[in-house]
Amino acid sequence: MSAITLENVSLSFAAKPQPFTVLEDINLTLNRGEFVVLLGPSGCGKSTILNLVAGFTKPDRGRVAAGGKTVRQPGPDRGMIFQQPNLFPWLSVLENVTFGPRLGKHRKDETNAQAQAWLERVGLKGFEHHAPWQLSGGMKQRVALARAWLPGPEVLLLDEPFGALDAQTRLMMQELLREAWLSTNTTLLFVTHDVEEALFLADRILIMSAKPGRIVDEIILPFGRERDIETFAEHPDYSEIKHRVLHRVRQEAKRHLR
Ligand SMILES: Nc1ncnc2c1ncn2[C@@H]1O[C@H](COP(=O)(O)OP(=O)(O)OP(=O)(O)O)[C@@H](O)[C@H]1O
Ligand SMILES: [Mg+2]
Repeated sequence: MSAITLENVSLSFAAKPQPFTVLEDINLTLNRGEFVVLLGPSGCGKSTILNLVAGFTKPDRGRVAAGGKTVRQPGPDRGMIFQQPNLFPWLSVLENVTFGPRLGKHRKDETNAQAQAWLERVGLKGFEHHAPWQLSGGMKQRVALARAWLPGPEVLLLDEPFGALDAQTRLMMQELLREAWLSTNTTLLFVTHDVEEALFLADRILIMSAKPGRIVDEIILPFGRERDIETFAEHPDYSEIKHRVLHRVRQEAKRHLR
């Protein structure tokens, strides 16, 4: 069974003189355990697609399903990570990570043990009792990753999660994300504007056009599951694929500006 499906999804927002069609006839299937990256011009509806899958927004037409069931509201099977980590400033790292499960009927000792394991995985062992203001930007985003992964979501939706980080931290976060993804069976839908980031991360890249948002191209990457950030660009197909993706993204961006 697929993890996520969008079938003939369209969505408009109220505007004058007429409604504004953001997404038109989107068809999309994410297989379980797949890592899919969405690329497209600003305003083409990438975040809107994530919001539909998360259950924050409903389509006007068509169907959004997660694990075969129609999405009607947010749920713990679908986690979301934003560009800003959005940590609660008055809670410690550990309290931030365990916030969701603590609202439910989970056992505190179990939740804390799982949170500790996730914090170790993202390289934050020893920072459990730090406050968010004592962390760097990359560390905060690692807390957000641990928090999103702790409840064991089927699907993680990531909206330009590394967009605000410096280049070196960003590469480390990309490696960390791939390691975490490989060690779980989570399905990832990741939005970025960075073509190299998309190439390193994805199994499959989807390119969108704007006004209305449509998926116009799909590139399946042949780089395999084990990727080394320092050497994967040496793959014989890398340059050609990068060129194709860059060209397609620029084409859409230019078309959008016109
Ligand atoms: N709640 C809303 N009400 C009205 N218009 C909206 C709403 N949410 C998004 N839009 C519009 O829908 C379009 C798509 O927005 P969306 O945020 O999905 O774009 P995006 O592809 O994520 O862009 P970016 O790359 O800049 O983040 C934009 O024109 C935006 O103004
Ligand atoms: Mg967006």
